[in-house]
Amino acid sequence: MARGFAVTDDRIRIIIKEFHKSMKVGLEHDNKDALPMIPTFVNRRPTGKETGSFLALDLGGTNLRVCQVSLNGDTTYQLLQQKFTITPEAKESRLWDFVAECVAVFLEEHDLHPPQGRRVIPCGYTFSFPIFQTGISTGNLSMWNKGFSVPNSVGRDVVNLTQSAFQRHHVPVEIVAVVNDTVGTLMTSAYSFPDTQMGIIFGTGTNAAYWERLDNIGKWAGDRLGEMVVNLEWGAFDNTALVLPYTMHDNKLNRKSSNHGLQVYEKMISGLFLGEVARNAILALVDQRLIFCGRSSEILNKSYTFDTAYMSEIVSDDSPDLSATKTVLESTLDLPPTTLIDRKAVKNVCNMIGTRSVRLSAAAMCAVLLSRPELLKSSVSVGIDGSMYQFYPDFEKNLYDVSRTFLGKDFVDNRLALRLAKDGSGVGAAIVAMTVDNDRKPVT
Ligand code: BGC
Repeated sequence: MARGFAVTDDRIRIIIKEFHKSMKVGLEHDNKDALPMIPTFVNRRPTGKETGSFLALDLGGTNLRVCQVSLNGDTTYQLLQQKFTITPEAKESRLWDFVAECVAVFLEEHDLHPPQGRRVIPCGYTFSFPIFQTGISTGNLSMWNKGFSVPNSVGRDVVNLTQSAFQRHHVPVEIVAVVNDTVGTLMTSAYSFPDTQMGIIFGTGTNAAYWERLDNIGKWAGDRLGEMVVNLEWGAFDNTALVLPYTMHDNKLNRKSSNHGLQVYEKMISGLFLGEVARNAILALVDQRLIFCGRSSEILNKSYTFDTAYMSEIVSDDSPDLSATKTVLESTLDLPPTTLIDRKAVKNVCNMIGTRSVRLSAAAMCAVLLSRPELLKSSVSVGIDGSMYQFYPDFEKNLYDVSRTFLGKDFVDNRLALRLAKDGSGVGAAIVAMTVDNDRKPVT
């Protein structure tokens, strides 16, 4: 089993090469087999001097955050935010109304009203699913992922769908900019660290955005001077199954998922899926009667019950008898009494799948940075957010370690800074909304 999950240095080299090919094709034209490489219409770097308060909505894979962001103009900001867990019902049917209801609650609880002389509160909208943008405040949903499947949405403008729900619920808010969460993360990091070149999410899902020169974006029909943030949608890498280390456990997950054959990279990297790959691998050991005397539990038999957070607990369990692992297995998952050998086997499975995730994550990051070799001569910050980056044991340390091999020790040790942009996606949306709104006449 160990060999199946291994991602050798040579494999990473192949992945980086293929990544570059796919980026290039995606920048030239839309092609379902290549990386989407979506122009975002964000073409101005923040200065850190932006000031003012803005509303931001951050619709992620797990939560909806409604925030009021106050930019202080000195590279710092304050955030007033309320988090709403997205209900299964919202994920499957009434998402837009759910969003409107949460915004109404936030405005009510914090007594927020349109600014003087205006009828609506301008707002930046972070939308963490692939949309093909046709402007800074419009974008058509290309597909759902991360377990969402709201009907009648694919192909439609998500700003319009949300804005209509605001009207139905009498919510006085106007979305003036829509950004991907990676774009928000990049902008937030750039607000404090001007050398930020990339924003990444390693969380429930995974993706990145980076600054690209407009003359490199062949499919961009507008002005060719300057640069623009491009949303890679890298979760879609290798949908044609050329270079990634697929195991039967990945194939099982993929086959049962609502987006079979899509987002295969994301399914090997991100928090929503790792636990499920581990569950499949553990059950394979059970079926071979190699652990738990061949017995499972009702809980473990159900899909997505082995949370990625359990993997974190297990891989960081350094107790001699693996007691934290015992608690997860026996108390949380209701398995029959386990032996130390069982627990070691489970820990080993979790380690292999976690290590594969971080090595593939680093491969993607290195590929993007290497695609702009001129950047590696000066200092580079990468803004990162997400539960894997924040909570998975040693995730950041391993990203640095792998990067040393592919970006060079000198660059990584002296010029590369991976920076947590906590809750950055919402703040970034507010920064973009602010620049857009400043350019417009007041809405009355
Ligand atoms: C989505 C991306 C998003 C990423 C991280 C992926 O599933 O397709 O748009 O940036 O998750 O949230």
